Amino acid sequence: MRYGHFDDARREYVITQPDTPLPWINYLGNQAYFGLISNTAGGYSFYRDARLRRLTRYRYNNVPLDTGGRYIYLRDDRSGAYWSPSWQPTRGRLDEYECRHGMGYSVIESARDGIRAETLYFVPMGHNLEVWRTTVTNERTEAAELSLFSAIEFCLWDAWDDAVNFQRNFSTGEVEVADGVIYHKTEYRERRNHFAYFACSEPVASFDTQREAFLGPYRGWDTPIAVERGAGSDSVAHGWAPIGSHHVRLALQPGESRTVIFVLGYMENPDEDKFDPPGTQTINKRRVVPLLREFLDPQAVQAAWEALRAEWDALLGKFQVQTPDEHTNRMVDIWNAYQCMVTFNMSRSASYFESGVGRGMGFRDSNQDLLGFVHMIPQRARERILDLAATQLPTGGAYHQYQPLTKRGNDQVGTNFNDDPLWLVLAVAAYLKESGDLSILQELAPYDNQPGTETPLYEHLQRSMQYTLDRLGPHKLPLIGRADWNDCLNLNCFSTTPGESFQTTTNIDGVTAESVFIAGLFVLAAGEMAQIADLTGEHDQAARYRTAGQEMTAAVDAAGWDGEWFRRAYDSVGRPVGSRWNEEGQIFIEPQGMCAMAGVGVADGRARQALDAVGERLATPHGVVLHQPAYTEYHLRLGEISTYPPGYKENAGIFCHTNPWIMIAEAKLGDGDRAYDYYLRINPSAREGISDVHRTEPYVYAQMIAGKDAPTHGEAKNSWLTGTAAWNYVAITQWILGIRPEHAGLRIAPVMSGAWDGFTATRVFREVTYHIQVERRGPGNAVALTVDGRPIAGNVVPLPLPGCAEVRVEVALG
Ligand code: BGC
Ligand code: NOJ
Repeated sequence: MRYGHFDDARREYVITQPDTPLPWINYLGNQAYFGLISNTAGGYSFYRDARLRRLTRYRYNNVPLDTGGRYIYLRDDRSGAYWSPSWQPTRGRLDEYECRHGMGYSVIESARDGIRAETLYFVPMGHNLEVWRTTVTNERTEAAELSLFSAIEFCLWDAWDDAVNFQRNFSTGEVEVADGVIYHKTEYRERRNHFAYFACSEPVASFDTQREAFLGPYRGWDTPIAVERGAGSDSVAHGWAPIGSHHVRLALQPGESRTVIFVLGYMENPDEDKFDPPGTQTINKRRVVPLLREFLDPQAVQAAWEALRAEWDALLGKFQVQTPDEHTNRMVDIWNAYQCMVTFNMSRSASYFESGVGRGMGFRDSNQDLLGFVHMIPQRARERILDLAATQLPTGGAYHQYQPLTKRGNDQVGTNFNDDPLWLVLAVAAYLKESGDLSILQELAPYDNQPGTETPLYEHLQRSMQYTLDRLGPHKLPLIGRADWNDCLNLNCFSTTPGESFQTTTNIDGVTAESVFIAGLFVLAAGEMAQIADLTGEHDQAARYRTAGQEMTAAVDAAGWDGEWFRRAYDSVGRPVGSRWNEEGQIFIEPQGMCAMAGVGVADGRARQALDAVGERLATPHGVVLHQPAYTEYHLRLGEISTYPPGYKENAGIFCHTNPWIMIAEAKLGDGDRAYDYYLRINPSAREGISDVHRTEPYVYAQMIAGKDAPTHGEAKNSWLTGTAAWNYVAITQWILGIRPEHAGLRIAPVMSGAWDGFTATRVFREVTYHIQVERRGPGNAVALTVDGRPIAGNVVPLPLPGCAEVRVEVALG
């Protein structure tokens, strides 16, 4: 069952039914001011940091679902009937409804009783504000007298404090209202130098800023008394819950339309210039006035929206394909790339499953996210890499998370997730291959953000590698520490206390439990380091990294192979995990994917055998599960993994992030059909037809799909913020389509499905546009390249001469 459809020409998903199984959301903003918006106008906004600078309130896990948003109410002043044109929060009848989620904007349009309303929501590029442009049209044969109300609820900035500290917060709220503009200024009197403003393009008939005055006591957002009555009460909030609501009267002749613009923004004043006149408590509004003049004007709004669309056309234009499969096309050309950009901006901080107060930026996560967006904005990838490196510790270890506003490592979660530092190597390698910018290796970055500790980035990478080598266990495999990629495989935490965190409670000395997965990751990283060292002329070091990679491979050969697949780990007393000797959790997906990607066991057929075992034991029609058999009871010595009921999350869920590793491994081994089959199983667009089972948005990947042991097998959860986005993008574009940036040029090595006769692609690489045409001539994967009409040996298109802007590449595959 579907709840809408793709409109690929406009790069939109069109939702045609408001009561989707879960809110289906989109993101606004791409630089500093961000918002989440659902298909019924739910969501919230923040500046840079979803925890520390939250502008508006949202109630997670509330009922009715999706409470709090950017609400508009329409009231027919003749009959007194009122409704929400976005369906929520009144959830009344609508005669027509449609929500279009596009690239950085959403449009919600509906009609009821001959009154049509269309609202466009977006954040103009380069500005810390959002625009709502509502056009109301009277399609009746008689004149209409309407009232239009806006409504948002302000968050008192720190979203965590806002949700818990009521003894203080019910007394601190403050607003100002001037010229119809509502200013939210809680704590501005003391240490904050920022405030929010909410303005309207039309003269305001009334307003409200106190929630209780607007809603009425014991009422919710679905029945505000001000809307029912047809007038606000001009309330000024003192404490309690500051909101913003404008009331505008519209008299519309038959066929007449009127556009009303609302602007919600964030502003900072210098400390010495906070008040106007100085010495008063009145906000200095001089910086807001010109912005309002600009964005309350329909022409400027239209121009800003067109500029945003042009920006997305340019970003997505870096890689476009036409294959025989529409699911591949729309994910590569539109939605997967878009999701990669969102995960870059948000890491795991703010979605409908991530509350924005918990996890900040993940070190491991952000490094992997980079793999998916680096080709769109290499400059911001560069900045991100240097930010990440600056949170690294002198040991080479890494804070697991950091807060985006402060860029400081999060002490609460701390460090010792022993895979973390290695992902930095992969991210830098991807950046170098994409950009060719070796200068980043010489950029100075501190450790733990301590001034005076700066070294070149290259040394950060060396320390990342050394971190693993300094922590080898009894089998010469890397010690796992608190966890590796699988946050819930906590082999050094035996917790019997309810609620204790498995990630931060380490009660074993940690010198025994080892990870085969980190070993594979290390081999992969060592290969990258060797290439990087060669590029900078440090051939001795390159040789040392090659040797280190070989030694680690030997350790995997000796202790990481179980007979038919790679083992997962060794526990704190040296027993294997992910082995046929275990009763549950005999085979795990992660080491099969990572070792094969790193080339371990490829030459001697073990990688093939391991992937066959994945196909037999782990693959389901909904994707590949993490392990089998699922843990049916709590295993004290494995940590959080078995706390989840079978089939969910890390306990044998389809943790989508890992599936592309298998796709890549299959492609590496030359099996295009299997790689593509796995790709389609979790491709959101390919799952659109089962939206009633899948339940999350059909245009973005979810972190998890319930595995075969779960009663709700096939149900997705935790959509949007997941490493799945970047890795699937890498799997499809670089390995299945085979268009792969490398240090020496663009490699073209498709391993595509036998059912395809070819595809075309446009790829911008180091500012040159490559027009690529692939044609299948035979059943194999051998590539014959013609570049600008001339045959070329091998499958790497050499870098063109300076000044060359376009290259034509023809590929015969067979
Ligand atoms: C989740 C993981 C997550 C970890 C750390 C666990 O409960 O299952 O997916 O990575 O917490 O936040
Ligand atoms: C989610 C985390 O963000 C990611 O870093 C981790 O690898 C997975 N969970 C698996 O545990």
